[in-house]
Amino acid sequence: MVSRIIPVDPFDLVIIGGTGDLARRKILPGLFRRYRAGQMQGETRVIGAARAEMDADGYRAMVRAALEEFDPVNATDTDAMAGFLKILDYVVLDAMGTDGWTDLAGKMHEGRVRAFYFSVAPRLFGPLAERLHLHGMADDDTRIVVEKPFGRDLGTARALNASLAQHFHEGQIYRIDHYLGKETVQNLMAIRFGNMLFEPLWNSQYIDHIQITVAETVGVGGRGDYYDRSGAMRDMVQNHMMQLLCLIAMEPPAKFDPDAVRDEKLKVIRALDPVEPNEIVRGQYEADDDKPGYREHVENPVSLTESFIAMKLHVSNWRWAGTPFYLRTGKRLRARTSEIAVVFKETPHSIFGPEAGQHRNILTIRLQPNEGIDLGVTIKEPGPGGMRLVDVPLDMTFSEALEPEAEDVPDAYERLIMDVIRGNQTLFMRGDEVEAAWAWTDPIIKAWEDRGDEPRPYDSGSSGPEDALMLMHRDGRRWRDIRT
Ligand code: BG6
Repeated sequence: MVSRIIPVDPFDLVIIGGTGDLARRKILPGLFRRYRAGQMQGETRVIGAARAEMDADGYRAMVRAALEEFDPVNATDTDAMAGFLKILDYVVLDAMGTDGWTDLAGKMHEGRVRAFYFSVAPRLFGPLAERLHLHGMADDDTRIVVEKPFGRDLGTARALNASLAQHFHEGQIYRIDHYLGKETVQNLMAIRFGNMLFEPLWNSQYIDHIQITVAETVGVGGRGDYYDRSGAMRDMVQNHMMQLLCLIAMEPPAKFDPDAVRDEKLKVIRALDPVEPNEIVRGQYEADDDKPGYREHVENPVSLTESFIAMKLHVSNWRWAGTPFYLRTGKRLRARTSEIAVVFKETPHSIFGPEAGQHRNILTIRLQPNEGIDLGVTIKEPGPGGMRLVDVPLDMTFSEALEPEAEDVPDAYERLIMDVIRGNQTLFMRGDEVEAAWAWTDPIIKAWEDRGDEPRPYDSGSSGPEDALMLMHRDGRRWRDIRT
């Protein structure tokens, strides 16, 4: 199935931090793929801006090398590569100073959408917004794109929002959470609101509990410094997992428009109860034969930061009262897998008697890898041995069902950048959403910091600390296996 490509009008996109890791790994390869797919016109300009002294040709050479490294297959398309390099330009820019700003302003085209991607540390967001304003680049056609971490608590998030709000209104600010750009994450809304089948059962009368797992096999790698100041709660739960929870738990918006969707997500975050300490398990991975443990990775032998977290959440509203949400995420776990499991209740009465056993329908939405959905259905076990029941999967892997050509499934960044250009904020976090998520997160972090809470050690390649299993066992439930 080939997706329809609708070219967008020529635009100016400035990547501030255009030589950085995110630009080379994600933003530029994403733009290249959209260019190659025919979505950008030749007059579009993508301007790298950074401190490094180089000219536009130097930048083109850097970008070519980045594309060859991070998108080797598409980079072999020499025509597309030549065309894409032509739309690039470069400005030497001092984000905190004055150098380069007049140059940059001179490169802007009148009457076009212009977007500034702040691919830099959050402390620069305010000064950048100020300079764009001072140099006449903060008009109504301007959009700014910012990355997580958007603050490290409510206070810092508010300060960031306030510094951006001095020169830009909310409709111009695109806060990226790359999970919202994932194809399967958007599918959560299609599955829920595009089918009659699920929504009538989507509440605490029929659903026993919901599990959300985002497991990674990688450790904290070269990001030890950032990660040790963040931990799994700030790095994954406050943003990505909160977004998944919102999409699963929200009320149907009246339409698929940015504020209608974000209003409903905000209500979910505001309905979250505070989490009791005994409903959270934090963990830290240990060394294995050939890989260092967490504390060695972050070079902090006394670190109390968690690389794993499991928690039980309650959404206090009519739909969800009595149905807990169990969330878990961690590094160096058994497999890389992200999935949401909606575990339905047992039938109110079994006509087949006790020997038929206990059965539940489970709807599993696999976000990555192997994207798809699987609905466990109870049927009669074949054979003459009486009415014994067995659960079998109705399993649909999207790539088999839809047969997309691999290149037609855009990566999260490609989709999100094009949404910025089209001016569609549905998949971006609104300022009040981010603040509400921090308002819920802050007391949880503060409580364990006040207690000096020690994360439980867990083996690399495991499912996390034993206590995380207990979190569910004591409720008579169990986590699904972490496996690909
Ligand atoms: C990032 C986190 O936002 O998301 C990383 O900072 C994490 O720690 C990553 O590894 C996970 O993203 P994905 O797309 O690989 O699931």
